[in-house]
Amino acid sequence: SNSQISQKETTSATKNKGGLEGIVAATTAISKVEGEIGRLIYRGYNIHDLARTTIFEEIVHLLWFGHLPNKRELEQLQERFATERTIPENVMVTLRSLPASTEPMDALRTAVSAWGAVAIQGKPTIDQAIALTARFPLFLAAFDRLRRGLEPLESKPELGHAANYLYLLTGEIPSEEHVKGLNAYLVLLADHGMNASTFTARIVASTESDISSSIVAAIGALKGPLHGGAPSKVQDMLREIGTLEKADAWIREAVSTGKKLMGFGHRVYKTTDPRAEELREMARLADANGFVFTRGVEELAIAILEELKPGRRLYTNVEYYSAALMASVGLKGDLFTPTFAVSRVAGWSAHVLEQINNNRLIRPEAEYTGPTDLAFKPLNER
Ligand code: ACO
Repeated sequence: SNSQISQKETTSATKNKGGLEGIVAATTAISKVEGEIGRLIYRGYNIHDLARTTIFEEIVHLLWFGHLPNKRELEQLQERFATERTIPENVMVTLRSLPASTEPMDALRTAVSAWGAVAIQGKPTIDQAIALTARFPLFLAAFDRLRRGLEPLESKPELGHAANYLYLLTGEIPSEEHVKGLNAYLVLLADHGMNASTFTARIVASTESDISSSIVAAIGALKGPLHGGAPSKVQDMLREIGTLEKADAWIREAVSTGKKLMGFGHRVYKTTDPRAEELREMARLADANGFVFTRGVEELAIAILEELKPGRRLYTNVEYYSAALMASVGLKGDLFTPTFAVSRVAGWSAHVLEQINNNRLIRPEAEYTGPTDLAFKPLNER
């Protein structure tokens, strides 16, 4: 029976390395991650076919409605996005109240929570997913401008999602190249199986809570450096390494003293992350000079990890080239992780909708390892 299967899996999960590695926690038709061969599929389509030829709005349509949009469907969805581009007064007041030193990821989480308090009622719907996804760039750009002492800008309805985000940050119509680069990034990061933040969103949804609560929780999970918090740390690492001549010694020292190289290793991929392959090509095109160094460090790191951590199969993950790509479109380091959220909210909301469509409360068990028969003493005897 099902309960016997889950019992067996619980026991093996605690016996091996933990972290629910290898445990199947849900069924999904949204995306498939194949770690051994480095393949990622969104609803049947290989990520390599989508990465540089589609825009983010096509991908959200695919994830939410189950098929790629035709021209008319895409235009309709883009119109929906454009009409949702407003920030309610209570969210504005909340953003203005945050000190300029607030991390943008915290500002985004707080804005989504404030928005949910006034805008969301009832069971999660695709309309709510659209309303929320459309607003992520607005919340972030508004906060980014406020912290720089500038007033937030009005969205431009004629701009697509990626272009409007860049416009709201800078006040300038972005170049075609920047829009293309950011679109590729948003497409590549939109969904990724049962990653920690998606699992978080599904757990909250499984209690029949609302969509904004699911998404607030997911933002919290994405923030940590073992998940979405790594790209600015990749940038810090590369800056610290400085030059290719110093890279070999730096990497050896770091790995042999137990440090983790940011942008390497993955729970599921045991080969190069296919998203990293796409981002690597984009980084090569965007900045040929910078690329020589980034690629050089990557090759050295893989070789040294193989030597010092044999058999662990540590390769480049999506975060390594995310930093280079986002910097090349003009984003600041502390906007890297929230921009990951601008993309992943599409997948989170698709998973919330999938979860409640066929819901059973997600509620695993823990293996208790403490004592069970201590003698109780009343307070005045302790
Ligand atoms: N650098 C050096 N050694 C590493 C690295 C790394 N980046 N990643 C894993 N290892 C080593 C571990 O030290 C461990 O070695 P051991 O067997 O000697 O103890 C072994 O490889 C297995 O590592 P775990 O930490 O058990 O692997 P896990 O699946 O739990 O972690 C994770 C995966 C969190 C991504 C990890 O590789 C890591 O911390 N990477 C660096 C941070 C990073 O790049 N995060 C972004 C992840 S991608 C994303 O979320 C979008």
